[in-house]
Amino acid sequence: MKSEIKLVIHGGAGKKSLDPARIRQRKKSIQFILRSGLSLLEDGASAVDVVTQVVQMLEDDPQFNAGKGSKIQKDGKIRMSASVMDGFRLRFAGCINVEGLKNPIQLAKRLLSEKDRVLAGKGASQFARSKKLEFANPFTQEARAKFLKQKSGKTGTVGAVAMDSKGRLAAATSTGGRGYEYPERVSDSATVAGNYANKRCAFSATGIGEEIVEASVCARAAAFIEVGIKIKDASKKILKDASKRGFQFGYIGLSKSGDVVADHTTPSMCWGYISPSKIKIYP
Ligand code: GLY
Repeated sequence: MKSEIKLVIHGGAGKKSLDPARIRQRKKSIQFILRSGLSLLEDGASAVDVVTQVVQMLEDDPQFNAGKGSKIQKDGKIRMSASVMDGFRLRFAGCINVEGLKNPIQLAKRLLSEKDRVLAGKGASQFARSKKLEFANPFTQEARAKFLKQKSGKTGTVGAVAMDSKGRLAAATSTGGRGYEYPERVSDSATVAGNYANKRCAFSATGIGEEIVEASVCARAAAFIEVGIKIKDASKKILKDASKRGFQFGYIGLSKSGDVVADHTTPSMCWGYISPSKIKIYP
């Protein structure tokens, strides 16, 4: 039986942007990326291929904090992290604090078929070089300006969850970190707290990495679903707990039955979803 294909993406949770032109521009990108992802799904692409491809597009867009547009750590370097989880094969792979790579998500995807599936720092770069992945300068004027003001962000990150025509689910997440953080601080994005998928659901988180890890957001949401809790109720539980603890994050999720969730404790989250009959983009 053919499943209804669906794709959900986010471009980060954060403060309410006051600039309507910026919101419009971001929404335009989200719309374009959603449509591109849908057309891949319609052509029969797998959920893993689609989530990595749309996250690559988000990494290449400097409006988002991942790939080009990543934030700068305290020592003036950009270190990026990304992961992908194939919910059908229950395989997770990721890279942590990789420097100068154009698309960390492609490195994560490449690692899915390896024995050592989560690599960090120099080892991650060395592996990427050996596989001839593209390196590029991720610095933008905006990231430099924030760095000069010693601005530590709270949020950012991009991610995607999808279900393909065979009903397989996958999740992918990529981040440029929080900005002005301690050098080599580890983000949640290449952990199962920030990115998780199995045969029943897929989740991707954005926000303060430490709090996403402490709330075990994505893996915990999936565990609720494993014991028979509906995705909307699982999401309510995660959100309620996060609000109680004063945590600042958001997440998107998709269940095998096609239900979509997107919740955040931050003032806003940029996200959208698409199916063959519907497209919605927020805020
Ligand atoms: N969620 C991204 C980070 O905190 O690094």
